[in-house]
Amino acid sequence: MRYSDVYKSWQDDPEAFWMKQAEAIDWVKAPSKALHADNAPLYEWYKDAQVNACYNAVDRHVEQGRGDQTAIIYDSPITGRKSKTSFAELQTQTASLAGALRDKGIVAGDRVIIYMPMISEALVAMLACARIGAVHSVVFGGFAAHELAVRIEDATPKAILAASCGLEPNRVVAYKPLIDDAISQSKHKPDFTIIFQREECDADLTDGRDYDWNDVQAGVTPADCVPVSGDHPTYVLYTSGTTGAPKGVVRPTAGHLVALNWTMKSIYNVDQGDVFWAASDVGWVVGHSYICYGPLIAGCTTVVFEGKPIGTPDAGTFWRVIQEHNVRSFFTAPTALRAIKREDPKGEEIKKYDISNLRALYLAGERADPDTIEWAQKIMGVPVYDHWWQTETGYTIAGNPAGIEALPVKIGSPTVAMPGYDVQILDEAGHQMKAGELGAIAIKLPLPPGTLPTLWNAEDRFVKSYLTTFPGYYETGDAGMIDEDGYLYIMARTDDVINVAGHRLSTGGMEEVLAGHPDVAECAVIGVTDQLKGQLPLGFVCTNKGTSKTDEEIKAECIKLVRDQIGPVAAFKLVAVVDRLPKTRSGKILRATMVKIADSEAFKMPATIDDPEVLDEIKEALKPLGYAKG
Ligand code: COA
Ligand code: AMP
Repeated sequence: MRYSDVYKSWQDDPEAFWMKQAEAIDWVKAPSKALHADNAPLYEWYKDAQVNACYNAVDRHVEQGRGDQTAIIYDSPITGRKSKTSFAELQTQTASLAGALRDKGIVAGDRVIIYMPMISEALVAMLACARIGAVHSVVFGGFAAHELAVRIEDATPKAILAASCGLEPNRVVAYKPLIDDAISQSKHKPDFTIIFQREECDADLTDGRDYDWNDVQAGVTPADCVPVSGDHPTYVLYTSGTTGAPKGVVRPTAGHLVALNWTMKSIYNVDQGDVFWAASDVGWVVGHSYICYGPLIAGCTTVVFEGKPIGTPDAGTFWRVIQEHNVRSFFTAPTALRAIKREDPKGEEIKKYDISNLRALYLAGERADPDTIEWAQKIMGVPVYDHWWQTETGYTIAGNPAGIEALPVKIGSPTVAMPGYDVQILDEAGHQMKAGELGAIAIKLPLPPGTLPTLWNAEDRFVKSYLTTFPGYYETGDAGMIDEDGYLYIMARTDDVINVAGHRLSTGGMEEVLAGHPDVAECAVIGVTDQLKGQLPLGFVCTNKGTSKTDEEIKAECIKLVRDQIGPVAAFKLVAVVDRLPKTRSGKILRATMVKIADSEAFKMPATIDDPEVLDEIKEALKPLGYAKG
């Protein structure tokens, strides 16, 4: 079969295409049709079906005789611990935790926040929620208490499931104090928490509100899978938008199951029983789709890796895991490879391992630079497939459909649009642009199954953020072009989102934090190029006249403020104090021009600039930070 035939079959009859893919899912009540367009431009898929996500990810494999197959491999070079969980064990564990949740009053539709590191129990927690129709919202461990509080406030969870700590190579991150702090900051108070105590840190539990993970499950009757309707959210995952208020991306159950299952073979080229590894974190969409749900739905073994590409213990860790666990398809962010390349440029480490079972490497989350792709291809000896997607879509928009037909790789391009996605390049007026021309990347509505139908509690924001600029299209927030062969190129974001080490962050959100500093009169945060992390945030602050503090003190306080409010993951360490910011005559801050200056790129003087001399001051302020040197 050829990709072009598959894509055309979708184009010719999307309804038939998606009904066909739906046959791979075990339904309690099969959908009568795929697309529900009565509320266009808001679309829903398989809405009249009844289904359970946990059943499809776990129970059905046990019922089909694959209970002994390993579902989860946990490998933690940080603790030195490894374990395997079979599908039968996973069924027992999820049914037990789900039973405890049910006994504590959680019913379908209730929200449950999960704040857990990369341990198998994180997947058990997600699946236990899905088992009883509770809507989980996983929060990444690298966010500060304030970010957790914002999510508690928005999702209004009845419960929080957490571990006592996460482990970074250089420190134990105690979660319970962060949770307590977040609950005290939030107006909404969850009824209870369940804490998984780890050896490295024993969390203090408050009687009547906090329960121990094991104790709370003692003697409970295991919970069965509860059927939910096709449009019922499996989860809400918050992601960065233009402002500090994160967007709660809603993931509908049925479309999610159908679409992820389709990708496992068509894109990642794995079959039941194969080992699939996504080296990401359950706190990100990659973790939801390809550490938890995707591989398990398809009956693959998934790897939960608690470590970093380097330093745990060395730059050979990834290769060791691939060899030891017979990984078939491997997915990571380009940053991780850049980190390995920087430490081991000649690829000495990989020579110590046999990774011959590996079929391909998949990269996503940020732009894959050609150097890194070429280096990885050379040392790994497998095809390297870049693919482009977003939290909002939950799976590949453009990629190389290796399980259907491996298309020729063009370095710098994530290849072509997948079935379900009609990707177009539009100019500002919404007209389609010619091949090779740069414009906004938009997707003709409807988006395919599994993509976001709306934002949690924020339908207006959904419409305004994604559907308004180009009527009839979904606005991706990325800019790029499509070449003569239909290959897509992703060039930049069109909004204030930056990508730091594959982590999606909002510069607008950081500006809101800096603006809260009592000595900061005005500020701007931009994303500057970084050789390792792709981008780093860099802040400019103008201080209030008459402050008694030195610039150095204010800079240190700004760095601490962002770390305390957003979290270490923001990697906010670069700040310059300046007298004024470059602006247009109407007062708009010229952030894009500052980015060009920082990255020593040529730029055209904005015609509307108020005072061009400010740009020289910005350049001088950037030099001590290692930027604007060209
Ligand atoms: N919990 C608590 N803190 C965390 C965290 C977590 N889950 N994840 C990261 N942090 C902290 C780090 O410890 C670091 O803190 P520091 O400022 O005290 O050093 C900070 O957040 C920044 O982390 P990061 O940007 O990850 O940088 P790093 O220097 O620790 O590691 C890499 C650099 C390249 C090794 C690492 O970023 C990496 O593995 N990136 C791949 C990212 C990835 O897979 N993304 C998935 C998206 S698909
Ligand atoms: P996230 O929602 O965290 O997955 O981030 C999505 C954003 O990351 C996209 O909108 C892009 O800006 C960027 N991104 C993801 N994958 C790629 C890729 N393969 N190439 C370029 N940018 C990417």
